[in-house]
Amino acid sequence: MRSGRKPLLSKLATNDGHAENSPYFDGWKAYERDPFHPTRNADGVIQMGLAENQLCFDMIEEWLINNPQASICTAQGLGMFKDTAIFQDYHGLPEFRNAVAKFMGRVRGNRAKFDPDRIVMSGGATGAHELISFCLADPGDTFLVPTPYYPGFDRDVCWRTGVQLLPVVCDSSNGFMVTRNALESAYENAKAANTPVKGLLITNPSNPLGTVLDKETLRDILSFVNEKNIHLVSDEIYSATVFNDKPRFTGVSEIIEEDQTLCNPNLVHVIYSLSKDLGFPGFRVGIVYSYNDEVVGCARKMSSFGLVSSQTQHLVASLLSDDVFVEKFLSESARRLENRHRIFTDNLDQVGIKCLQRNAGLFQLMDLSHLLRDKTFEAEMELWKVIIDEVKLNISPGSSFHSSEPGWFRVCIANMDDQTVDVALRRIRAFVSRSEGAMAASAKKKRCWQNQNRKLRVSLSYRRMEELMMMPPLSPIPQSPLLRAQT
Ligand SMILES: Cc1ncc(COP(=O)(O)O)c(C=O)c1O
Repeated sequence: MRSGRKPLLSKLATNDGHAENSPYFDGWKAYERDPFHPTRNADGVIQMGLAENQLCFDMIEEWLINNPQASICTAQGLGMFKDTAIFQDYHGLPEFRNAVAKFMGRVRGNRAKFDPDRIVMSGGATGAHELISFCLADPGDTFLVPTPYYPGFDRDVCWRTGVQLLPVVCDSSNGFMVTRNALESAYENAKAANTPVKGLLITNPSNPLGTVLDKETLRDILSFVNEKNIHLVSDEIYSATVFNDKPRFTGVSEIIEEDQTLCNPNLVHVIYSLSKDLGFPGFRVGIVYSYNDEVVGCARKMSSFGLVSSQTQHLVASLLSDDVFVEKFLSESARRLENRHRIFTDNLDQVGIKCLQRNAGLFQLMDLSHLLRDKTFEAEMELWKVIIDEVKLNISPGSSFHSSEPGWFRVCIANMDDQTVDVALRRIRAFVSRSEGAMAASAKKKRCWQNQNRKLRVSLSYRRMEELMMMPPLSPIPQSPLLRAQT
């Protein structure tokens, strides 16, 4: 474009607030260019960067066969076709809101009750985050967010709203817990930068940590937002993706129902979706559940921009109203997820890879810091490139989750079948043993070099010595060309 000419597109359309310039999305692109297939492309990239739950589709399919009336495009469901097709009220089908509210309560062991009249629809949790941000904040306002956090927030919360995210820095010394100190120091940082803090955004259970927040932390968080008079947005999209109760999941709703003096409920908002717990990301069922009447009213009007189709509402309402199915599904889903978790943890453990302890989510956070050339984010990116280009696994580096420590990598474990899991684990084993071999060789070379150097030191000029010291350290990772991992 010649300078001085009026831009054809808006600033919004041409800025990079979409946040796709990140290894998180680059990994997806690498997968799309060369997707693994057991027979057609056995050397392709395995997608382990997608937090999808594909472990229980057989159960859903069986339910659909047994409940043909739930699908309005079957002979049995046709009677509902016209009414469903013309339905366009932004409040949503009453049976849909009732069923979702009941499901959210059931997932929390009925320790919290959800009012169907507070359920606002949106296009997935993605849309729900933008919707709540539009309701609560003006351009330039800030939300605090504990690190590491889901990379999509940079797009969902910030891009079109002009809201900013400011990290609450958490680290592995205490399992990335959100502490009062970390919250206060982020709040002070925002004040020093002159950015008005409008809220705190938490994810419970956490993506990428796979951990649940304990009650004490939740109480601390609620009293913090209450004291500062800022909003709390709690993303609870993984609330039923918890595979044991050690510890059990506690949502923010249970705490405010237990102790109504802790926090002004008008400040509290829950984000939910069926993308993870039921494995329906394609259905785009997102929910804003606010305890603030004004927010509910405004969000409902705004939800016109991202409603859930009435056909989907109808189907979801029927499915979630089947108590027997819901019970069976939740317990079987947890059992299968725990099994997958155990297979990964045991196999990774055998090759010396430790994972953050967790009991939720569709992923594990692996500690690969021992394979880094040095403890920097540059070294993390180098290792990530080797893993994606040579080992052909799309896993996501901690830096894409704004981790404060290099060396953590998120690996998704529930979006593939058992055979693909075997291939992925074989690749990881081959890679680790190759890397360790290279590291041992590099250490040996270094020791040799140091011994020789000691002997030579007396005869070397100062200048030559300096040159030697400037040589780059030997990488623990085999340098190019790398052997393709054996599948
Ligand atoms: C924490 C978190 N929030 C929101 C989303 C977006 O979910 P949805 O597919 O419902 O838009 C994701 C997806 O990975 C997520 O992990």
